Amino acid sequence: MRIGVIGAGAISPLYLRYLTRRDDVTVAAIADLNLERAASRAREFSLSAGLTPAALLARGDIDLVLNLTTPAAHAAVSAAALHAGKHVYSEKPLAISPTDGARLVSQAAAAGRHLACAPDTILGSGIQTAIQALDAGVIGRPVGVTLAFLNHGHEHWHPDPAFYYQPGGGPVLDMGPYYVTALVSLLGPVTRVVSLAAQTFARRIVTSPARAGEEIVVGVPTHVVGLLETAAKVPVQVTMSFDVWHHTLPHLEIYGTEGTLEVPDPNTFGGPVRVRRADEAAARELPLRPDLPQEQARGVGVVDLVHAVREGRPGRLDGVLGAHVLDVLAALARGGDTVITSTVSRPLPVGTS
Ligand SMILES: NC(=O)c1ccc[n+]([C@@H]2O[C@H](COP(=O)([O-])OP(=O)(O)OC[C@H]3O[C@@H](n4cnc5c(N)ncnc54)[C@H](O)[C@@H]3O)[C@@H](O)[C@H]2O)c1
Repeated sequence: MRIGVIGAGAISPLYLRYLTRRDDVTVAAIADLNLERAASRAREFSLSAGLTPAALLARGDIDLVLNLTTPAAHAAVSAAALHAGKHVYSEKPLAISPTDGARLVSQAAAAGRHLACAPDTILGSGIQTAIQALDAGVIGRPVGVTLAFLNHGHEHWHPDPAFYYQPGGGPVLDMGPYYVTALVSLLGPVTRVVSLAAQTFARRIVTSPARAGEEIVVGVPTHVVGLLETAAKVPVQVTMSFDVWHHTLPHLEIYGTEGTLEVPDPNTFGGPVRVRRADEAAARELPLRPDLPQEQARGVGVVDLVHAVREGRPGRLDGVLGAHVLDVLAALARGGDTVITSTVSRPLPVGTS
């Protein structure tokens, strides 16, 4: 299976480092609108010269496109790749509008191609160990969940951070995919979203060196507080913010009839996973699944997709999951009370079929 990467920006080296070390996939080419950037990334990873996106899609020896463009470009780039007969793995979110997300799912089905979407952190040892513990009944039946992602945005480190404050960015669409994909993997789909979405600052000033002093006009809510209800009627409280300097909320905590499960940061592959049952004096750490990545392994979802194509099964990060997560996130970012009409089966835990 030969992979062509479109998007040679900040995240691409993480994927390329992981994928170029594997012997079950081959990265054949890289493209970007910025040819200079594509060429320099191609040199760094000994790939054939950097290409234009159109030239990459025209190559018959590329089976799968890894879409690492910025969120607003995801839908168009994935649609063009499906149209060219490629399987697609997209960075998150699948698209920036639920309509585009659903359209991509239909297009892939009609074309008989696989479509999958990040984040692949849910295939890591941390989240999979938590799923195993939950399924084993360690905390009994879930009665509630807290999800929280709060920081002060990306303008202090990212070389080109404006996109984080445009539609498709903001804490909800940028970081929400990690949290809501992990939630669905643990507890299944979401049926209702209630939310208050605030845009705290009209403008943000970049402090990262490449564009220090530049002003970003904010076009998305940056502090969002919401409630989700899962299909199994578990209430979930969510806070997503780019406006908070310090906090003490857990990343993802599940409360059950018999105890509490502390799930690790869904933006990482490792632990710790902690459990405290009703009769225990303190939380204890569970051993992590040794068969799955615990360190940075961005690209493991692409490998899952490659195996899914070969085995003729849907990938664990199938586009249907990405589209459902996008529906939930769009409702959270919009504010108000929304019934979620899309649904998805909980992805099979890794190692089960
Ligand atoms: N940077 C991170 O730490 C990080 C982490 C996880 C996920 N992501 C996700 O990865 C994606 C890319 O983020 P990034 O930080 O690498 O952004 P970036 O701005 O550094 O790079 C994006 C690249 O895509 C190219 N591009 C944009 N539109 C294009 C198009 N239509 N055709 C071809 N190329 C196009 C740009 O020229 C740029 O080189 C985003 O979806 C982001 O949410 C980023």
